[in-house]
Amino acid sequence: MKILVTGGTGFIGSHTAVELQQQGFEVLIVDDLSNSTAEVADRIGMITGTKPPLHVFDLCDAGKTEDLFIREEGIAAVIHFAAHKSVGESVQQPLKYYRNNLLSTVNLLESMARHGVKHLIFSSSCTVYGQPDELPVTEHTPLKRAESPYGNTKKIMEDIISDTVKTADVAAISLRYFNPTGAHESALIGEAPSGIPDNLVPYITQTAIGARSFLRVFGDDYDTPDGTPIRDYIHVVDLAKAHVVALKRMLDGKCKDRYEVFNLGTGRGYSVMEVIKAFERVSGMNLNYQVVARRPGDIVKIWADPSYANRELGWKAEKGLDDMMGSAWNWEQAGLHLSTLSTDA
Ligand code: WQD
Repeated sequence: MKILVTGGTGFIGSHTAVELQQQGFEVLIVDDLSNSTAEVADRIGMITGTKPPLHVFDLCDAGKTEDLFIREEGIAAVIHFAAHKSVGESVQQPLKYYRNNLLSTVNLLESMARHGVKHLIFSSSCTVYGQPDELPVTEHTPLKRAESPYGNTKKIMEDIISDTVKTADVAAISLRYFNPTGAHESALIGEAPSGIPDNLVPYITQTAIGARSFLRVFGDDYDTPDGTPIRDYIHVVDLAKAHVVALKRMLDGKCKDRYEVFNLGTGRGYSVMEVIKAFERVSGMNLNYQVVARRPGDIVKIWADPSYANRELGWKAEKGLDDMMGSAWNWEQAGLHLSTLSTDA
């Protein structure tokens, strides 16, 4: 079965491509390489033995998107990761995010409908919940206006998809990730943000390797046990496996609705300080960090109630925080992504 993975040279896309190939699916990648490199496709091949074909273009180009579906007969499903995803950048450049994330999704859905591709897995985010009033978060937790244009594009992309499946012959599952982190055990693929990392764990590992002088801890005066914000960190390989489980649910006709939503988290929240301490314990490094002012837009705490995904998908996150820290550190030490590092902040 041929599966089109958009954004497949990115962090979660590349790990999902590996799991798909290892479970017997044929993988096709489209990526504009705006936040990844073509070399990732080679590394997927090094892990699985099969380098997935990579089509490099922007899904905002409707003509090129349509051409791909014309040329690539027999696509059974699409897993849609392709999107800009920097919260900070989206605040500075909202139209770049609304144009890219929304137009690419519309083009994709139009071509899927024209070519009889009936199944879509969408990469969504817990960001759509904003700061929940109650924790843990379930799939019925009310959505709130996201704190950033990036998060709002995820909510709007879900709306575009859920409205489309009502009439088009396409069914969809949205997977709302909590905080993806870690790396593949081979250390051949991992989180390789271009430029200065927004996210906590790549900033930790880049500080430990000496590429950053110190980690800024954005505030320790929050309403949490140690004052630092809490997140539900989930290993990227656990996340990738969930995509294959959701895909098989669709292809085997087991969906209970044309549009389904699942939270993908571990159910365990960790504070920033707990993550730092876990990294130090696993790596044996003393991390250089300083507490600074809060980061605008940060929520205080969020973690998932993963029981619906556990029950309905038969999937459960298996890897713990130490594995996330250890695999992220191995990936950083492998240094395969140093080309994407920019000078220090
Ligand atoms: C986590 C915590 C920061 C960097 C991200 C994505 C979002 C979604 C969920 C995909 C916060 C603190 C961070 C640093 C720090 N993923 N921090 N110093 O903001 O929860 O959201 O994951 O859809 O799109 O942005 O993740 O890793 O940026 O921050 O203290 O240098 O770490 O304040 O409390 P976040 P993050």
